Amino acid sequence: MSKPKRRILVTSALPYANGAIHIGHMLEYIQTDIWARFQRSQGHECYFAWADDAHGAPIMLRAQAENITPEELIGRMNAEHQQDFKDFGLSFDHYATTHDEANRECVEMIYQRLEEGGYVVKRTISQFYDEQQGMFLPDRFIKGTCPKCKSEDQYGDNCEVCGTTYTPTDLINPRSAVSGTEPVMRDSEHHFVRLSEFENRLQNWMTSGALQPEVVNKMQEWFEDGLRDWDISRDEPYFGFKIPGTDDKYFYVWVDAPICYMASFKELSERIGLDFDEWWTPDTDTELYNFIGKDIIYFHTLFWPAMLMGSGFRAPTAVYAHGFLTVDGVKMSKSRGTFIQARTYLDHLNPDYLRYYFAARLGPGTGDIDLNLEDFVFRVNSDMVGKVVNIASRCAGFIHRGGDGKLASALPEPALYEHFVDQRELIADDFEQRNYQSAIRRIMALADEGNRYIDEHKPWQLSKQEDQKDNVQAICTQGINLFRVLMTYLAPVVPFTADIAAEFLGRPLDLWSELDQPMLGVAINKFQPLMTRVDPVKIEAIIEDSKENLQAAGEEAAPALDLADEITIDDFLKVDLRIAKIVDAQAVPEADKLVRLTLDIGGETRNVFAGIKSAYKPEDLVGRHTVMVANLKPRKMRFGVSEGMVLAAGPGGSDLFILTPDEGAVPGMRVT
Ligand code: 2FM
Ligand code: ZN
Repeated sequence: MSKPKRRILVTSALPYANGAIHIGHMLEYIQTDIWARFQRSQGHECYFAWADDAHGAPIMLRAQAENITPEELIGRMNAEHQQDFKDFGLSFDHYATTHDEANRECVEMIYQRLEEGGYVVKRTISQFYDEQQGMFLPDRFIKGTCPKCKSEDQYGDNCEVCGTTYTPTDLINPRSAVSGTEPVMRDSEHHFVRLSEFENRLQNWMTSGALQPEVVNKMQEWFEDGLRDWDISRDEPYFGFKIPGTDDKYFYVWVDAPICYMASFKELSERIGLDFDEWWTPDTDTELYNFIGKDIIYFHTLFWPAMLMGSGFRAPTAVYAHGFLTVDGVKMSKSRGTFIQARTYLDHLNPDYLRYYFAARLGPGTGDIDLNLEDFVFRVNSDMVGKVVNIASRCAGFIHRGGDGKLASALPEPALYEHFVDQRELIADDFEQRNYQSAIRRIMALADEGNRYIDEHKPWQLSKQEDQKDNVQAICTQGINLFRVLMTYLAPVVPFTADIAAEFLGRPLDLWSELDQPMLGVAINKFQPLMTRVDPVKIEAIIEDSKENLQAAGEEAAPALDLADEITIDDFLKVDLRIAKIVDAQAVPEADKLVRLTLDIGGETRNVFAGIKSAYKPEDLVGRHTVMVANLKPRKMRFGVSEGMVLAAGPGGSDLFILTPDEGAVPGMRVT
């Protein structure tokens, strides 16, 4: 029985139009695209409407810096973004910008309805103003000293050193990040949406199954704190849409950005002839899904649905948040070369590799996802190339050699084919729930079974016997059909590879319902390499290019490591490193840098002079464990004999850190 056809609209968050796309963005876009492609593979009507987020002060300032108009900047960025996305196989149906007229119309209509509903209030507020630049300063454009930890050069909203959040007026010695001058306080009237008016409706929506449990928890905290009025206006100069009825006020970028999900769909509906209203009325049976990162949950679970509710539109069916991308376990880093732009990746590697790897790591929650580069090479090579593609490449040749390119007219083991197709519902359910890692596990377990089947039947041996020709053709027909099932399941994940496989099989792989019937008695095309192995050298090239991008952009890469001459393991073993406990520490009054340490190395004490006075108070060192070189020849110094050396890292001054072993290490233990 065929399932009822659903009508689904999906979106990804809109990338800002002032920067290049990087692989951190790609995690979300690939997640969304797999989901959209999957829905279409089930026969549903599914659109992916998307856009660039083109408004706001940073875009205005970047255009100024480049000496071009904001329109020129966003036009260029839009073209670059779309090219990156197409080359990554993202199947969006429409790509707009928030600066489009269609969006202006939607924003003005929603604002007017909110005003008519009594949801908008005006109030005068006082904010930092840059007199030289002639503009009010957003929080991120004010820098100063953290009021808590006193770290310098911190943004106006939070301290990156101690994590405290505050308002810009709390900063010590605030400065405009645009002109460097000291900002002054100035009054201005702002427009606010009264979010608290939506509290009940938002709570009902929150518990309707629209959100992940961790997101519901977060929202509950916000409700407990009380919903504050949301400031939706910005003073000029600003790049955005003017608020109707004002001369110098603009809609805050976070008003028109989510509304552009609607506007992009509107442009699409006009382009291909859909009924816009059917998709946006509150009682519609169409579905709307917003995929976002966990950093913008607030905007999508409070502001966005409140604006829709207050203006008589439907709320999202669900908002799906994902975690951040790390590379090799840490935040993407410019100096390590792991802040990889989409284009840099595409210059070297097949987009399907990354799509596959992300799918293999993505689950339904908001936990971070790690791109471990070694694991990436291993996974893609062993799963996609070694298991899936391998089945086709082991069978195709025999079909052409012995069977005139035609598949046999019956499967030798129909039950095995049925078993593969029987997994369809479970795998579909995984994709539906965004549990791609589970789907991939199931598909790869089937791929293992497919390879086992071929291993057991050994067509390469049978093909040497003339009377086994039909048998070989039948075995390989079975293998090709199993491969077809696997590639059909994987098509939403690896669309480029699926296209080549479809070409080889001579029929599309885009509908899972087609698997009801195996392919029998028909000709297939010559096998072409579907996917080659990831070459680790290419990864190194990506890392190198990413470091170069950084230098081209005038940013500073970490200096290349200035390593000491190579030594052998035997050389290293000559150094006797021991755990030492600092039992006493005294500053040496006559020396600027030296502290006299008394070290216990397990039944023996040593006197060591260490140059760490600029980083530590001697009394803080007493009782700590550290690591010392215990067989260093004693050195006679002005203040006494030093009988070893303690290990410390860092350039010097206050940036000096003595090494401390994990708990459990005791004095005298050898460090190896
Ligand atoms: O955080 C961001 O990158 C925003 N540009 C996302 C906007 S999503 C939506 F609201 F448009
Ligand atoms: Zn701080």
